[in-house]
Amino acid sequence: MKSIREIDITNKTVFIRVDFNVPMDEQQNITNDTRIQAVLPTLRYALDNQAKLIVASHMGRPKGKKLPELSLKPIAKRLGRLLEKDVKMANDCIGPDVKSLVSAMKTSDIVLLENLRFRREEQKNNDKFAKELASLCDVYVNDAFAVSHRVNASVVAITKYAPVSVAGFLLQKEIGYFSKIMANPQHPVVAIIGGAKVSDKLMALANMLDHVDKFIIGGAMANTFLKSKGYGVGKSKIEENLVEAAGSIMKKAAKRKIKFYLPVDAVVARRFDPKAQTKLVPIQEIPENWMAMDIGPATSLLFSEVLYDAKTVIWNGPMGALEIDSFSRGTIAMVHSVANCYALTIVGGGETDIAIHKEKADDRITYISTGGGAFLTMLEGKTLPAVAALQNCEKKMDK
Ligand code: ADP
Ligand code: 3PG
Ligand code: MG
Repeated sequence: MKSIREIDITNKTVFIRVDFNVPMDEQQNITNDTRIQAVLPTLRYALDNQAKLIVASHMGRPKGKKLPELSLKPIAKRLGRLLEKDVKMANDCIGPDVKSLVSAMKTSDIVLLENLRFRREEQKNNDKFAKELASLCDVYVNDAFAVSHRVNASVVAITKYAPVSVAGFLLQKEIGYFSKIMANPQHPVVAIIGGAKVSDKLMALANMLDHVDKFIIGGAMANTFLKSKGYGVGKSKIEENLVEAAGSIMKKAAKRKIKFYLPVDAVVARRFDPKAQTKLVPIQEIPENWMAMDIGPATSLLFSEVLYDAKTVIWNGPMGALEIDSFSRGTIAMVHSVANCYALTIVGGGETDIAIHKEKADDRITYISTGGGAFLTMLEGKTLPAVAALQNCEKKMDK
């Protein structure tokens, strides 16, 4: 991939695709602006070089509908404050209004386009739409690592039509960090995988068998593994059709002498509800009509011991249903175990990141990725489609 640093952007109109898909509460207050902060270096670089900046992002999954609660307006305000500059908000991402707003821009002006996913074409990787986006600019920059695993128009098809397509600093940093760690990690390498999306994460686990010395499995993920070991998990959230695949991963791990740690106790509840009655049980004693909602204190202690000799720790996914306070203690304990260990620590995932920031432990983690799905795709050992698109542009230019 070519970097934004390698081309001349002065006086050029630069289209920067970022991922401002940040969590907001019901009143549209931004509850975590890590993803906005993460692209400031690229935006500041472009401003310092007297470019005209068009910034574009998606928010949520509106599927082509203009949902006011998914407007990027609150982001324009926050971005303006962070950059100490006026950020003009467009009412759409393409069309005549956007065109005239862009043509009136002066150097170091910033226009933020409205949610790209208000147009159905974005997620269809539609060529006509991509061409229209590309027609706004002289230079296209992808600095949206967190959405680069998606084959979407503003990260893939657009590279066919933009005059020049390059990577921003965040994308470079994320890819660079990952490649460096995965190519030559310091051992022991411990992977901690939690959360709920078993189907999404199982592939990543399988790929990591080649790289890690120990696995720690928590969250709803663990239930599927426990079930495959023959334990009763009551009404816990599991993915029945993946029980066998989970078993086969554990067998492969055993063959390679990779240590595989599952919870030894759990906080169980009758319902997914803050008001539900809870109790603490050894893992082999989950009552039939109850659900495992968090790891218990014995597990937290066990997992922290597993991390004592780690030199590299990779973590994705919370240890329990952390949205509910009474089921967040396992994840909070894990935040501190990871933050305190004498290892290079790399963390990804939306919920995981929120837990780390809530505990103010972000400055004690070596690297927090802005990606959830993208982070996992990297763990699977795959090239991200948007990165492949930028690399293709490079190849074409070389010819
Ligand atoms: P991340 O965003 O960090 O990658 P995921 O999206 O995979 O993590 O998982 C987060 C979700 O997992 C949370 O919404 C949480 O409620 C859920 N979860 C974790 N543990 C459990 C559990 N034991 N039972 C039910 N849900 C759980
Ligand atoms: C994310 O939050 O992981 C990215 O913004 C991608 O969002 P998506 O899963 O809706 O494509
Ligand atoms: Mg998530």
